[in-house]
Amino acid sequence: ALVPVILSGGKGTRLWPVSRELHPKPFIRLADGQSLIQKAFLRAASLPGVSHLVTVTNQTMSFKTMDEFRELDLPALDHGMVLEPAGRNTAPAFAAAAAVVAQRIDPQAVLLFLTADHMIQDLEAFQAAVVRAVELARQGRIVTFGIQPDGPETGYGYIEASGSDVLRFVEKPSLERATEFVDSGRYLWNSGMFCVRVDVAREALSTHAPDVLRAAEESVAAARVLEGQNEWQVALNEAAFTQAPDISIDHAVMEKTDKASVVPCDIGWSDIGSWSAFGNLFPSDARGNQLDGDVIAVELDNCYIHADGRVVGAIGLKDVVIVDTADALLVSQKDALPDIKRVIAQLEARG
Ligand code: GDD
Ligand code: MG
Repeated sequence: ALVPVILSGGKGTRLWPVSRELHPKPFIRLADGQSLIQKAFLRAASLPGVSHLVTVTNQTMSFKTMDEFRELDLPALDHGMVLEPAGRNTAPAFAAAAAVVAQRIDPQAVLLFLTADHMIQDLEAFQAAVVRAVELARQGRIVTFGIQPDGPETGYGYIEASGSDVLRFVEKPSLERATEFVDSGRYLWNSGMFCVRVDVAREALSTHAPDVLRAAEESVAAARVLEGQNEWQVALNEAAFTQAPDISIDHAVMEKTDKASVVPCDIGWSDIGSWSAFGNLFPSDARGNQLDGDVIAVELDNCYIHADGRVVGAIGLKDVVIVDTADALLVSQKDALPDIKRVIAQLEARG
């Protein structure tokens, strides 16, 4: 069986103030009314032969996540949720999901790990890439999806590729190295999706991250399970799960394994890492503005403006982002947006 597993748990603070602890990035809705996680569910459901879907998320997000799923009305799909008592990054989430799928669904399953908060514009190209990835995964490979880079972005993993072989995987390099990688023309970005057989995942974890595997498997063995009609929940045991180190699957396994393969793909992928990337998902007017919500625009050029719950009037601006919400407002020059992390740092310092 091919089992898509959606990892939902990042904070997405670069999309503050819409994305925050209690309303993280997967729940942001686009112009068509669908949230990013709903798009991830639909993408997974569109794959041939899929009858189970698994979502791994924090316990506190379980109702919100279930609501998003139910709203889509996909009766043919069995939906399981693996609930984390605390966030430990993607490696423990990955390990726990693999253990749950092996136990409940199929010990030979091919897992397809998907992110909850990305955009993929070309569904057919995505489906074709998955078909290729599943073939490689069945042969025992840990398959990544490689995206043609368009700049030395330091927030991504870099894959040195030769055909479908991965020569090297480097997670979040320095700007200097990222620049070298992009200039060399030999590297692809890691999209954050992975395809791997359950037993191969377990083997790789036991070699490269045994402490992650142990904590995850113990947390599954001692989990509390809730069964419903076409729905189930596995609440991981807290004492066991929190023994896992906080580490991403990229650092824990992908940088170390010699079993990595890559499917290079052109699928219209975007990780929507900033408000300007988010704005690009909306149609532009004649002057390059993307207006999202009830906005009155007068003499604006190349702006993204998000209004939520009240009207926003804006006059005479160029290359500006405005994101208005009920209790917080962001105003930024587009090219200064990376400094949003300085706003977040000051907010976090307040506690
Ligand atoms: N369940 C769960 N628990 N999910 C998590 C957790 C967690 O503790 N932490 C992150 N996630 C989810 C996020 O919601 C997202 O869907 C996915 O796992 C990836 O996590 P990010 O935190 O967004 O990772 P990243 O952006 O720093 O890096 C990854 O994605 C890049 C592409 O966007 C890496 O795989 C990079 O190599 C890759 O280039
Ligand atoms: Mg991310």
